[in-house]
Amino acid sequence: MNIRQLLDDRLTAALHSLGAPDTVSAIVKPSARPEFGDYQANGVMAAAKQLKTNPRELATRLLESVDLSDMAAKLEVAGPGFINIYLKHEWLAERLEETPPDLPLSGEEAKTIVVDYSGPNLAKEMHVGHLRSTIIGDAVARVLAFQGNKVIRQNHVGDWGTQFGMLIAHMVSLQAQGGELSMQLSDLETFYRAAKQRFDAEPEFANAARDYVVKLQSGDPECLALWQQFIDISLHHCEEVYERLGVSLTRADVQPESAYNADLANIVSELQAQGLLVEDQGAQCAFLEEFKNKDGSITPIIVQKTGGGYLYATTDLAALRYRSAVLHADRALYFTDARQSLHFQQVFTLARKAGFVRAGVSLEHMPFGNMLGEDGKPFKTRSGGTVKLVEVLAEAEERAFALVTQKNPELPETERQSIAQTVGIGAVKYADLSKNRNSDYIFNWDAMLSFEGNTAPYLQYAYARIKSIFRKAGAESFTSPISLQEPAERTLAMKLLQFTEATDSVAKEGLPNHLCTYLYELAGNFMSFYEACPILKEGVAEEVRNSRLQLADLTAQTLQTGLGLLGIGVMERM
Ligand code: ARG
Repeated sequence: MNIRQLLDDRLTAALHSLGAPDTVSAIVKPSARPEFGDYQANGVMAAAKQLKTNPRELATRLLESVDLSDMAAKLEVAGPGFINIYLKHEWLAERLEETPPDLPLSGEEAKTIVVDYSGPNLAKEMHVGHLRSTIIGDAVARVLAFQGNKVIRQNHVGDWGTQFGMLIAHMVSLQAQGGELSMQLSDLETFYRAAKQRFDAEPEFANAARDYVVKLQSGDPECLALWQQFIDISLHHCEEVYERLGVSLTRADVQPESAYNADLANIVSELQAQGLLVEDQGAQCAFLEEFKNKDGSITPIIVQKTGGGYLYATTDLAALRYRSAVLHADRALYFTDARQSLHFQQVFTLARKAGFVRAGVSLEHMPFGNMLGEDGKPFKTRSGGTVKLVEVLAEAEERAFALVTQKNPELPETERQSIAQTVGIGAVKYADLSKNRNSDYIFNWDAMLSFEGNTAPYLQYAYARIKSIFRKAGAESFTSPISLQEPAERTLAMKLLQFTEATDSVAKEGLPNHLCTYLYELAGNFMSFYEACPILKEGVAEEVRNSRLQLADLTAQTLQTGLGLLGIGVMERM
């Protein structure tokens, strides 16, 4: 249940029945301060303007016409025409008793949603540049599925193009020397660098590489077999990273660039037939007025190069058509860094003009900023190279292991190792997810592994702490009537009921940090509750104790579900 939505729907309907136009709504939000109630409706002022009436008067009439007596204890008009809403304790308690927090509760109709994320280039090993797309996209995909949508993950990997000619040339020459290919390919990064070095230094090798590109693209079976071998190894490597990261992508989600190969000529000829292309220095380009620069020039979308080659944009146009016509997407979300913003705005606009996507499809680029080192510069190795993803993950686990050992030296080593894995990987993911993706973020080991503040270890610790209460109480989990007497109990209850407001907002805006902020506040509310409201202490009446245990249990479940949606695990003790 999304209480905010429920209130908004009811108050908006009442506003409309008073004659307000369809364009206005009640604009219900959680109140910023307790003295303004639990929720506040801010839409009356705008409605009054439209109706040319006094806002306080309209607010008063609204309160007379709306019946919220089932849920609200008090409604009041405040300031120029705000409405403060105070919910009933009993109503909140009942909602908590009936609503298991791990069910999809969004009232919205389920949609088919394509989520395009990760998308590494298979010529090289995955590096930290792919981390943000992989982690953020995965969290949003999980939240959308949790709401009950049909989510189609699309891993648009780069497996086509000129780099593969160079790699095949290197494979062929190694084979000719009698080398064992699979050994060489176990380190893709080194393999790529060796091929690139030869490509730059040996003209004969470079020529061979170019020939292989042509052969590959014309479907030469031998070339295709070598290419396939390379792709398989590279994908296998990605899967290892996904597995270790706790990312839900599988082989079935891979829809590579090469899959659109056969459609690229059609895309170009259909654009041509619609008069959307002009030839510019031998290349096929779309000049769209929408992309006029300040000096009046237009940045074109190039769909075919001189010589006939297709480009990234051509493939994305084909992918857009596939997602709309074959996958029947209602929404298509793209998680890439902000530098690709113009690219996506351009292909979205051109695809609409050409009728490649149905009119109702929502196309949404979800950009993100850079990952920076502690010095505020792009995240690099000490020698200035790109950082391999596996190395970051290994370091996360090592650091977490040292931390866990320091805190809990008495735990068996295998348990410390498994905790370190959950904490280390969770810390890396959470540090990224908890920031607004639109800004750059600074990768800082000490901050992300801290047990204080908005971090994964803090939330995992809050969960483990609740579990330890249950161990002491001799129970696993709990169901009991809830009664909200103390302010801290009520605050915690209200927060628990706001879980789906957080997930709905992640789903709508593609911003997982909204869920992180929610979980952090929930853990904070729990800690205050636990301080103010003793549970297992002697002298606490049984009903009170049971009600509090129930609140604690719901908190643990919500933390577990919420972290699970972020792709982060919890443990019973740490
Ligand atoms: N392979 C691309 C890159 O590494 C990302 C793909 C994003 N998805 C898309 N449909 N273009 O930048």
